[in-house]
Amino acid sequence: MRLAVLKERRAGETRVAATPETVKKLIALGIGVSVESGAGIESGLTDAAYREAGAEIAADAAAALAGARIVLKVRAPLGTGEGAVDELSLIPRGALLIGRLEAVANPARARVYAELGIEACSMELLPRITRAQSMDVLSSQANLAGYRAVVEGAGAFDKGFPMLMTAAGTIPAANVFVMGAGVAGLQAIATARRLGGRVSATDVRPAAKEEIKSLGASFVGYEDEESQAAQTAGGYAKQLSANFYAKQAEVVAAHVVKQDVVVCTALVQGRKAPTLLTAEMVASMKPGSVVVDIAADAGGNCALTVPGEAITTPNGVKILGWQNWPGRIPAAASSLYARNLLTFLSTFWDKEAKAPKLPEDDEIIRGVTLTRAGAVVHPLLAPAAA
Ligand code: NAI
Repeated sequence: MRLAVLKERRAGETRVAATPETVKKLIALGIGVSVESGAGIESGLTDAAYREAGAEIAADAAAALAGARIVLKVRAPLGTGEGAVDELSLIPRGALLIGRLEAVANPARARVYAELGIEACSMELLPRITRAQSMDVLSSQANLAGYRAVVEGAGAFDKGFPMLMTAAGTIPAANVFVMGAGVAGLQAIATARRLGGRVSATDVRPAAKEEIKSLGASFVGYEDEESQAAQTAGGYAKQLSANFYAKQAEVVAAHVVKQDVVVCTALVQGRKAPTLLTAEMVASMKPGSVVVDIAADAGGNCALTVPGEAITTPNGVKILGWQNWPGRIPAAASSLYARNLLTFLSTFWDKEAKAPKLPEDDEIIRGVTLTRAGAVVHPLLAPAAA
């Protein structure tokens, strides 16, 4: 059983899907691992380190993929016309492809995988259940994104986070407001508190209020009957009514004017991120304030965010709209992502056959499987199949 780890080629992608640590454990399962040369370098992982862990180093994607039965990726492999290397055409028929493939937003991808006979598992579709926690790439990456957002926000803020009492006088603590208290937001709250900020946060899911308070932040938000039912069965926030968002905006507008750093993390699964910070609200903020919008990959929570860029507004507010926040902390992000994939593979591993075993009736497998035996089977992509 051969497994290939490719260098990520999508713009700005710094992560890698296996590390020397996980390569060793894959080899212990009886797998032969081939790593494309340079795959880990942006995460600080050299070819020599992979070789020492027991991997073969392949000169290019074609050599890494030759004979592979399993392919580990961070992002979807490049297809025809997407870049210099058509990675998809090099993946052997019948191979199991595991990555964050984002096929619901790009449904054509799943059709191509099916046509090419690739058995594709899209890890961002993993059900958020206890048994799946250690394989949960959304959580591991969001956690790091939340941390990194606060650190970069602190770097861009030209005062400080903690109250600084000096002989020359006192600098007050920064007011930090975290919008969205899911995995990224809760880590952002914890990080901002550790740095000494005075932290508040908002969310629409009722459960989030207690979680915000338990981390020592104050809750700021609008609550009504609609927000009491704002959570889906899967744990995500629902899209709410225009009336709710208008009421929420009133509360946010009154609060934001006093904030030094606003960290935006709010998402509604499968939709554009909700706009929670309007141009007027940004205009009300003090010069030197910072908005860190880690929802930029989904369009951003701030109306002025330019995805992929950092801008300064005419009133002197910096808006960091970088995309792929986990990729801004690549060594840690790769390390956790690689462990998520290792746990997935070893959970669904037939020790005797030394091959993956993906039971169709398993909730996790049903959640992540896009294609099987040449057909698109995921309920979100093939309603008839569901
Ligand atoms: P997410 O990334 O989809 O959204 C981030 C946050 O934005 C959420 O807390 C959401 O409620 C919030 N949000 C959406 N609209 C908003 C608005 N208008 N104003 C303010 N906030 C808004 O969420 P994430 O981080 O992926 O977590 C989703 C859920 O999954 C949570 O309930 C989390 O506790 C749960 N979870 C469960 C796991 C498990 O049991 N295995 C693992 C990880 C997460």
